[in-house]
Amino acid sequence: MTARRTDLPRFEPLGPQHDRAAFSCGVPELDGYLRTLAAQQSRKQISTTTVLLVDDAARIAGYHTLSSARLDFGELPPALMKRYPRYAEGIPATLLGRLAVDTGYRGKGWGEALLLNALERSYLATRVVASAFVIVRAIDADASRFYEHYGFRELPASPGRLFLAMKTVEALVRG
Ligand SMILES: CC(C)(COP(=O)(O)OP(=O)(O)OC[C@H]1O[C@@H](n2cnc3c(N)ncnc32)[C@H](O)[C@@H]1OP(=O)(O)O)[C@@H](O)C(=O)NCCC(=O)NCCS
Repeated sequence: MTARRTDLPRFEPLGPQHDRAAFSCGVPELDGYLRTLAAQQSRKQISTTTVLLVDDAARIAGYHTLSSARLDFGELPPALMKRYPRYAEGIPATLLGRLAVDTGYRGKGWGEALLLNALERSYLATRVVASAFVIVRAIDADASRFYEHYGFRELPASPGRLFLAMKTVEALVRG
């Protein structure tokens, strides 16, 4: 059934009805991932891809991916390390691997909407499977600044990866 425009904007899992080829965020790696790898990785349970539809049920305005991850003990800043015992399995985390907004939809709050949606999903999942942090992979310095705007901090031992404590995520999503 074709979705009515009144159902928009909304988030939904990436599916064959979405026009992946039309998506362009200006970062070839993120465009290429959506076109060629995202559906396959969803099928294999490697990561979920959620798309944002704003004014057309097939046109992808933005997307994010989520999967389970693990932080090694030594990756955390020293002050935080003290708060976590040395769990043999490392510290459970949620990876927001990719987040991008199509260039035609930039600067209108959709990046923030995608980020909050990913954080809310991460937080809800912790009721079933515990996770102490959300980690993001920033593709470049500009992407890092976007995440820092929301309180993420760089993992000292892993440049390009930033983290936010799930306690902070909880406060953000519960308002
Ligand atoms: C980064 C990106 C997702 C932002 O999307 P957007 O829709 O333009 O952002 P929004 O309009 O929702 O902006 C929300 C807030 O973030 C701020 N912001 C946006 N991009 C920013 C950046 N690069 N650095 C710092 N702050 C940024 C905005 O100023 C705004 O702040 P305000 O609410 O205080 O005014 C988008 O530019 C993008 O897809 N870039 C290419 C891919 C990328 O870098 N992805 C990031 C992870 S790999």
